[in-house]
Amino acid sequence: MEGRVPGLLPRRPDGVRPPWKGRRVLLGVTGGIAAYKSIQLARDLTRLGAEVPVVLTESATRFVTPLAFEAVTGGAVYRSLWSVEGAARHLQLARETDLVLIAPATADFIARSALGRADDLLTTILLASRAPVLLAPAMNDRMWSHPQTRRNADHLTEILGYHLAGPTTGALAIGEGDGRGRMEEPEHLLLHAGRLLGISDAWAGRRVLITAGPTREPLDPVRYLGNRSSGRMGYALAEAAWLRGADVTLVTGPTSLPRPLGVRCIEVETAREMETAVRETLPGHDLQIFAAAVADFRPEESAPGKVKRAGVEAGKSWDVSLVENPDVSADTRDARGDGSVTVGFALESEELIDRARGKMERKEFDFIVANPAGEEGAGFDSSTNRVTLLDRAGGVVDLPRAEKWEIAWQLLDRFEQGFASGGRDG
Ligand code: CTP
Repeated sequence: MEGRVPGLLPRRPDGVRPPWKGRRVLLGVTGGIAAYKSIQLARDLTRLGAEVPVVLTESATRFVTPLAFEAVTGGAVYRSLWSVEGAARHLQLARETDLVLIAPATADFIARSALGRADDLLTTILLASRAPVLLAPAMNDRMWSHPQTRRNADHLTEILGYHLAGPTTGALAIGEGDGRGRMEEPEHLLLHAGRLLGISDAWAGRRVLITAGPTREPLDPVRYLGNRSSGRMGYALAEAAWLRGADVTLVTGPTSLPRPLGVRCIEVETAREMETAVRETLPGHDLQIFAAAVADFRPEESAPGKVKRAGVEAGKSWDVSLVENPDVSADTRDARGDGSVTVGFALESEELIDRARGKMERKEFDFIVANPAGEEGAGFDSSTNRVTLLDRAGGVVDLPRAEKWEIAWQLLDRFEQGFASGGRDG
């Protein structure tokens, strides 16, 4: 996970979206050089629609100013327990927050919170709050690996149930070596915070398998038959399911997308490889979503060496004979768990609804997401989509054009109803 730009969230968020929208994230900043990155974090959380009150420890103010946080959040910044405002506000702040995020969390702060100290505003809030707590440790690598810090950090996670993100490896301000100590990147922290905000009983621990992207069927070692699927819809679904607390596996054909944070990725090239990976992985899943654009045919033979122009007789054509590929979704039917929910996709240029419904019946899907082919702003290779969701009971829901992440979020709301009714046999 380290050093990777995660998922579909733009590197710099540009709009309000769930699960951050309308939620309150209390950002605590302690005194480490990584505090400068927390200004960006505060800004990004705000842009995603969260309300972000900020609490700075006294030593944090040696690295960053309250004004910087006020400017990016447009909200209040708190520093002292002893001001009139600090004393009155700390219990209220602690009670009213959906998440306490502490970034960076220094070795000293981790030690004080492991001891249950309440000697400044931030530690006091920690004791008074019952919201989930996420800490992003940042310190010199030798300090992080010291047994005392290890013991404190273990206490926070194992006894107090706090969540830690990082630290990771990479350049440290005053690094001793290549050990862990660097604060987790702000864009990863945004997602970790999102998962703690987005987690729900319906999704926590659910096992979700998603196929995504195109497949590539080789003609020779350098050429292949493929299609224009970008993989975005499947990746958006994987990210959204992870944000809700699911345990997500993505079986993905080749795409240019970064792997979604926290998602287990199995990379494949061909339809046959995808079928093998799905067959092996499928048992035990609660939800399987077949979003991949699988090539239905492959070249009967793949030439062992690169086919040369001179090798094809002048004036003749290179004839390729195609044979049928497995149907990943239908041929692995027997490996689906009892009561699990299955979702397919259908991209159609004509008779969208009837054909999609036919596919749902034939392949025994509980839901099918029908995509119009060839429509601008929908389907393949587009960042937006417009879909119609059909279910086995005859339900039809049109989701108007929106970014794929938003469509993914709305689709999961519907698939969740499949869990409630017990899936296929429900
Ligand atoms: N699918 C699959 N393996 C295939 C073909 C399709 O798993 N070899 C899955 C897709 O991921 C999708 C659903 O089946 O969820 C329907 O895919 P689509 O390509 O629309 O349907 P096909 O059955 O291939 O029919 P056609 O291409 O003739 O429309």
